[in-house]
Amino acid sequence: MLPAPTTRLRFRAMTSSDLPDIATLELGGSRGPAGWIDWNQDNYERHGFGLWVIETRDGGFVGDCGLTVQEVAGERFVEVGWHVRSSLQRQGYATEAAQAVRTAAAAAGVEHLIAIIRPDNIASQRVATKIGLALEREVHKGGGPALVFGADLHPEPRLEPAQSV
Ligand SMILES: CC(C)(COP(=O)(O)OP(=O)(O)OC[C@H]1O[C@@H](n2cnc3c(N)ncnc32)[C@H](O)[C@@H]1OP(=O)(O)O)[C@@H](O)C(=O)NCCC(=O)NCCS
Repeated sequence: MLPAPTTRLRFRAMTSSDLPDIATLELGGSRGPAGWIDWNQDNYERHGFGLWVIETRDGGFVGDCGLTVQEVAGERFVEVGWHVRSSLQRQGYATEAAQAVRTAAAAAGVEHLIAIIRPDNIASQRVATKIGLALEREVHKGGGPALVFGADLHPEPRLEPAQSV
């Protein structure tokens, strides 16, 4: 699966040649940029999704956004995640990408979508809220407190052919 392009952005699989760009993102965690790319390529194989590169319609690197599987209190969920390069932040890119990922997740049959966010990450909390996720619970994850935002997803209704009477 690959989310549909948006007004300003398109999605593509991450490759090893993205390393210098991926290294500019605030990734968090301990994987490092090369490990990040390996992890996502493994996720494409394993789940059919991962974090994809988001780029402008003319191919300028913006960041990444997509889906991963995360465990919360012993249960596995599909999480939407996002990172935007610092020079392009606050222009609505994360929200625009995350909305397209939410739509793609719903179309792929994901029933409940979450975002796990540190309490001090106000920008990410705004992105989650703006794509319709609501605060569900507070947990301890990855060595600290985390807020879990989430929403039930419903597939886009399909237009049924009109019934003749
Ligand atoms: C979180 C992040 C992806 C947001 O990207 P972005 O493209 O700047 O986000 P948007 O432009 O779509 O903005 C979304 C909302 O966040 C707000 N916002 C963005 N940066 C902010 C900041 N530094 N402080 C407070 N609010 C901020 C915007 O104002 C907007 O809210 P509004 O519509 O109410 O004004 C980006 O800051 C980032 O890459 N951060 C580091 C990585 C990270 O934290 N990833 C998520 C891990 S859970």
